[in-house]
Amino acid sequence: METSIKRAVELIRNSGYTVAFTGAGISVESGIPPFRGDNGLWSEYDPMILDLNRYYYGSEESWPVIKRLFFDFFGNAKPNFAHMVLAEWEASGLLQTIITQNIDNLHQEAGSKSVYEYHGNSRQFICLECGKYQLLKDTKLLNTAPLCVSCGGLLKPDFIFFGEQIPEPAASQSVKEAGKADLFIIIGTSGEVIPASNIPFLAKKAGAKIIEINTEEGRFTHSISDVFLQGKAGSILPKIQEQIN
Ligand code: APR
Repeated sequence: METSIKRAVELIRNSGYTVAFTGAGISVESGIPPFRGDNGLWSEYDPMILDLNRYYYGSEESWPVIKRLFFDFFGNAKPNFAHMVLAEWEASGLLQTIITQNIDNLHQEAGSKSVYEYHGNSRQFICLECGKYQLLKDTKLLNTAPLCVSCGGLLKPDFIFFGEQIPEPAASQSVKEAGKADLFIIIGTSGEVIPASNIPFLAKKAGAKIIEINTEEGRFTHSISDVFLQGKAGSILPKIQEQIN
């Protein structure tokens, strides 16, 4: 591990343009369970609660589960050391941007400024009738699905449901960032979901070196990763940070 950490430090120091690509694993140490793997959310709940039609025609059934999984859980979550190290690297010019699949807002709360939310976010809702946005902080969350204050229509959380389009500017900007990266750091993602999991392959194809941080091997480890650091993001990133300082 020590050699791999040293190699990672060298890559980070020598990179002219570094992009981080994060998934649910980076927020596990903040108390938010991952979707897959041991005690993953999808082993306990049906992912189809995030099917748009099912929500539109049956929100009385899916909304209480969505509220529990994505709002009650996230409510008290705080950024962990992994989020904080990435924010410090951005401030010191060692990291240019983050592409995250997460909707928990923890990168922003840790102080990261350049964050592309590939699957949207949980800070606001969109009305499925009039299209107006409504902030979470202006919306009372009850056991029935929230309704639009302007037209009374059904509100949907502003993260993508299965089958929905990837939001802009994240969709096109992520492809650009992958093309610009000299170094691409993949943190805490199974790489199971497309099109998000195509982004690291684009970076590799464009010539980026790849560092992967994960508690277990996955789709990227033996295909595109140049350095694989096995372990918790919240412990590995501070270890790298120590050697950089
Ligand atoms: N540190 C680093 N990696 C971790 C940690 C940790 N502490 N804990 C778990 N992991 C790894 C797991 O090994 C797994 O590879 O994080 C990954 C989490 O994978 P998923 O739960 O599949 O999450 P993610 O890859 O972000 O899922 C992508 O799927 O359901 C959709 O929209 C949802 O954005 C999500 C997308």
